[in-house]
Amino acid sequence: MAENPTKIILDSDPGHDDAMAILLALGNPKIELLGVTTVGGNQSLDKVTYNARAVLEAAHATDIPVHAGADRPLVRPLKVAAAVHGDTGLDGVELPEPTRPLDPGHAVNWIIDTIMNAEPKTITLVPTGPLTNIALAVRMEPRIVDRVKEVVLMGGGYHVGNCSPVAEFNVATDPEAAHIVFNEAWPITMVGLDLTHQALCTPEVQSRIDAIGTDLSKFASGLMDFFREAYKNNQDFVDPPVHDPCTVAYLIDHAVVATRRCPVDVEIHGALTTGMTVADLRGPEPSAEDCHTQVAVKLDFDGFWNLIIDAIKTIG
Ligand code: BDR
Ligand code: CA
Repeated sequence: MAENPTKIILDSDPGHDDAMAILLALGNPKIELLGVTTVGGNQSLDKVTYNARAVLEAAHATDIPVHAGADRPLVRPLKVAAAVHGDTGLDGVELPEPTRPLDPGHAVNWIIDTIMNAEPKTITLVPTGPLTNIALAVRMEPRIVDRVKEVVLMGGGYHVGNCSPVAEFNVATDPEAAHIVFNEAWPITMVGLDLTHQALCTPEVQSRIDAIGTDLSKFASGLMDFFREAYKNNQDFVDPPVHDPCTVAYLIDHAVVATRRCPVDVEIHGALTTGMTVADLRGPEPSAEDCHTQVAVKLDFDGFWNLIIDAIKTIG
């Protein structure tokens, strides 16, 4: 591990691309993965929690805590993304049976305790699912806003949606939670669809994953095979966009994900636009003092995939 790795809590709903985010966090020395927390999203809470444990098992990382969190959004019913992630949430591969039991204690309590017991500004929250757990945590313990270093989340988009013309799945699933999270004063980097639609797993990229030749690389490639078909059939993509690890890549190397500072708020009352992340891109770019939110705009494609491939190799 690097000298001062970035300590992260990955709050996720694995999910094919969440799984890749876990692998990138485990396999890069600049990141210290403190724990994985889970939230109902791509599939039911039980399924995504099992998947988180199975991915850690596949990556020989059974010492990483896993805490289960909210099983549904704050206000709305949960609508899972079975069309994109399958019935298990991680269809397409045989999941190793997790050997480590699920950690006791609700994810929200664990997130709060971990942040409050750490030195201020040393922990980064990385949500890659609906923001239910993070919203609950901030309502239960508002002091975490000043204690975390920053929030780097996958969700939203400033030009496109995937659940609706303007809303992205993680935000659309729990818009009220997203509204809470975006309206707290912590530094937020929104890694939305404008960025993640650049993170395409092309056949060339996948052949580099295959060439690694380990059980883990076969696991990752199997995930990508399913993801490719799902995105082809559902969203008319030739190659699947691998959203969630873009958050971790940004933390590893800011040069891989260029950002633009701008105010962002979340629509919760729209007739057509509920779940839209409304980014105000007018005028000159504001300073960090004046604006606590920024959006990811441009991916260094080769830099991103090099990080993923190196991480899979490093884990072994
Ligand atoms: C997001 O939705 C989920 O299906 C993915 O895991 C990702 O977090 C993309 O809209
Ligand atoms: Ca996700």
